[in-house]
Amino acid sequence: MLFDLKDLVKNNTFLHNLASIVSNLVPTFIIHNFEKFKAIRFTIENAYMDSIDGDYLEFGSLTGSSLNHAINCYKKIYKKENVKIFAFDSFEGFPEDNHKIFKSQNYTGNYEKVKKIALRHSNCRIIKGFFRNTLKDDNLKKEIKKISITFIDCDYAISSKDIFEFIKPKLSYGSYLIIDDFHNIDFNKNSISKEFNKLFNKSDYQITGYFGLHGVIIRFFGNQE
Ligand SMILES: C[S@@+](CC[C@H](N)C(=O)[O-])C[C@H]1O[C@@H](n2cnc3c(N)ncnc32)[C@H](O)[C@@H]1O
Repeated sequence: MLFDLKDLVKNNTFLHNLASIVSNLVPTFIIHNFEKFKAIRFTIENAYMDSIDGDYLEFGSLTGSSLNHAINCYKKIYKKENVKIFAFDSFEGFPEDNHKIFKSQNYTGNYEKVKKIALRHSNCRIIKGFFRNTLKDDNLKKEIKKISITFIDCDYAISSKDIFEFIKPKLSYGSYLIIDDFHNIDFNKNSISKEFNKLFNKSDYQITGYFGLHGVIIRFFGNQE
């Protein structure tokens, strides 16, 4: 070779700009959502492989795109075995607005549309309302006995606190938590990761994967207390 390709690339600002432009062509939200979908699919696949017992819970459904995806994954992977799927959302946004991007006006959701998705599947239920109210329901507490996968996509620490308290005693050994926006920080310097650490500091778990901007996949192996 007359020239070394690496040296050419290393010093060529035109090629650096070209690489930067190409890597910025795909919008961040598309990469993020694609990786989120991949995390959901692979987690369902892993739960199936290891026979992890329990329901699938989604916190934050908005217009139902991730819920629809989870239902499709279950159909493909579990075939005729019917895992119960619960989807929780206020469909009115967040309990407080405390972040530059996560604002209720951008996340009002579509209850009618999500309800239609659920109506097509006998194993799927939508629970409308703020988590702090819906998760207090005694019938629901009895109905959801064990959880195999919890998908948390509620953006806010304050919302995740209610979820963690509800799910902690119900998590099966080897179950998964898929948590989006895990390390995002609100105006009060709170984050979902802080809330998780407060409640699960004596639990046995491992972070088994990352997705998108600040998404994590956690595998749970029991509570020590
Ligand atoms: C990012 S969106 C969910 C996106 C959805 N998982 C998807 O991928 O299509 C966040 C949702 O969480 C809901 N949410 C956040 N905190 C909540 C709370 N405390 N109670 C009920 N819903 C809440 C909002 O209403 C919003 O629809």
